[in-house]
Amino acid sequence: MKVEKAVIPAAGYGTRMLPITKAQPKEMVPVVHKPVIQYVVEEAYNSGIRDVLIITGKGKRAIEDHFDRSDVPKPNHYVTELDKILEEIDIFFVRQKEQKGLGDAVRYAESFIDDEPFALLLGDTITFPPCTKELIQVYRRYKTSVVAVEEVPLEKVSLYGIVACKEVEESVYLIEDLIEKPNVDETPSNLAILGRYILTPEIFECIKETKPGKGNEIQLTDAMKILNTRERMYAYLFEGKRYDIGNKLDWLKANIELAIGDEEIGETMREFIRLLEV
Ligand code: G1P
Repeated sequence: MKVEKAVIPAAGYGTRMLPITKAQPKEMVPVVHKPVIQYVVEEAYNSGIRDVLIITGKGKRAIEDHFDRSDVPKPNHYVTELDKILEEIDIFFVRQKEQKGLGDAVRYAESFIDDEPFALLLGDTITFPPCTKELIQVYRRYKTSVVAVEEVPLEKVSLYGIVACKEVEESVYLIEDLIEKPNVDETPSNLAILGRYILTPEIFECIKETKPGKGNEIQLTDAMKILNTRERMYAYLFEGKRYDIGNKLDWLKANIELAIGDEEIGETMREFIRLLEV
């Protein structure tokens, strides 16, 4: 079966980005020319997906407005680029009723997804090159759920879902177990879930059976742990760049890295940074 739909959860609080996110969604925070979530929608588009469901919630209306076709009197290059994508894709929205965790948010995609495998892209994470495109290629070979991971330093495992797995070919691992935000002394590895997944629709049944976990929230990682007892699941080691915009340091780093590589302002930025007395 083909992966034709994407789900983008964008319902979480932006606590780590306060006060920037006091009155705007964290997914609307800008990175150089565009808000984070635009990069995420572009990733889905560039991975061949044309139906996207964004799961929003309280205080997230700006996201819906951003994906309206523009009616600005003089659209610039970036607006036109987005308009072109919007001609080709359909974006649907659903609101999470209560913030009960990522697993609970994904549950809202059930009727949109129906009975197909789908891509899941966290709305506050940017990847280059598009990680989803690579995951879809792995899915085509293994025809079951696959989740992107990256190596993180051991002191950071408690910030992520972590997988225990064994390598089956270069960069592809069979998952043995998953644990959400383990302590450093209980972690089975340093392979962290980075926010890009291809999931089979069986995940919805597993979410329904998932009890509140870390932070008293319904965790997607816990639902995937149940899924892993029912069907094989794989992890894919993503070697590209990934920025978690839900955290100020990574957000600033993303701005600097993408700005110095940017066609329009890159050269000036590089010169500016060179002249900074650091
Ligand atoms: C979520 C997931 C976690 C994953 C992380 C990636 O956590 O629960 O498994 O590793 O995203 O960013 P959050 O960052 O929302 O706390």
